[in-house]
Amino acid sequence: MPDELDMTEIIAWLRESDPARLGLLWRRADDTRRARVGDEVHLRGLLEISNHCARECGYCGIRASNRGLPRYRMTADEIVAGARRIAGYGYGSVVMQAGEDPGLRREWVAGVIRRVRAETPLAVTLSLGERPDADYAAWRQAGADRYLLRFETSDPALFARIHPPLGTRPFDRVDALRRMRAMGYEIGSGIMVGLPGQTYESLAEDLELFRALDLDMIGLGPYLPHPDTPLGGGSLPVAPPGTQVPNDELMTCKCLALARLLCPAANIPSTTALSALGAASRTHGLSRGANVVMPNVTPERYRRLYEIYPAKATVDESADAFHARVGEILRALGRIPARGPGGRQQRGA
Ligand code: 5AD
Repeated sequence: MPDELDMTEIIAWLRESDPARLGLLWRRADDTRRARVGDEVHLRGLLEISNHCARECGYCGIRASNRGLPRYRMTADEIVAGARRIAGYGYGSVVMQAGEDPGLRREWVAGVIRRVRAETPLAVTLSLGERPDADYAAWRQAGADRYLLRFETSDPALFARIHPPLGTRPFDRVDALRRMRAMGYEIGSGIMVGLPGQTYESLAEDLELFRALDLDMIGLGPYLPHPDTPLGGGSLPVAPPGTQVPNDELMTCKCLALARLLCPAANIPSTTALSALGAASRTHGLSRGANVVMPNVTPERYRRLYEIYPAKATVDESADAFHARVGEILRALGRIPARGPGGRQQRGA
């Protein structure tokens, strides 16, 4: 059973500042995590397969108009080699993520998915943005298991301000997620915490939407201003004093903990954006609701070009180096690296 938190209680937790009370929230989230998804931590190998992007998201460093940024697209062989490396580490799945890149043709991506499925035991997760249903269907057919598409904020006015539509094409991410679920995908979504103009009420609606969608995966992290973006340059006003959500570690951890209570069986990563806030942040995420880590396995020469926000924590640490210490990080927390693809546990009550 998901926790019976109502909107008033969610908002109260988001505004809570008493350390003792917050200790209760962390405890409740950690107990729910242990009871519902156990002590295993799923490791998902992340491949950032292209930094080409057709969109102009106001927050994102790889937006189309950042003309100074060299663009790359990994070859099929490079992606398959990355997947083999992920399998070699013993991780259970590969996440292929990219900007919204029309150069990633439907059939080409389908071919890559088929190769990864044929040549490795990995589950395949895609995070390739807004695409026509025919693409999602073809990729599912080719063997993709999961799709990640953050709705970023459930506030339509704020979303429109940070995420200009492409031409006149209307696209409803929440609807698309529902259709993908009907195609047989496990679906993941999420938000940025502390976007300029994001209020406590709006953030509580986001969390409530996680529950309404019964998400299989939830990815959330702090909004991190990128200097080469309109938002990073201060283009959006913040909400009035006392109503603007901060983009800090504490607020992100509250959201993680509440996401665990609202979606107890979901797979929830302690995200790279959270780790960017400090050395202990990833650990805090894991002890306050998260049960997934996504090591970055993108070849280093590409990784530095996938700068969606500044100072991504993993940019300077090689996949081998992180792999060498991740087991230790987990064991120090009393957790165990999981084996196998790590799909969603039994749905429902
Ligand atoms: N700060 C934090 N997260 C960001 N993302 C993109 N840009 C930023 C930023 N400046 C997140 C978005 C997107 C995901 C891939 O990365 O939520 O969906």
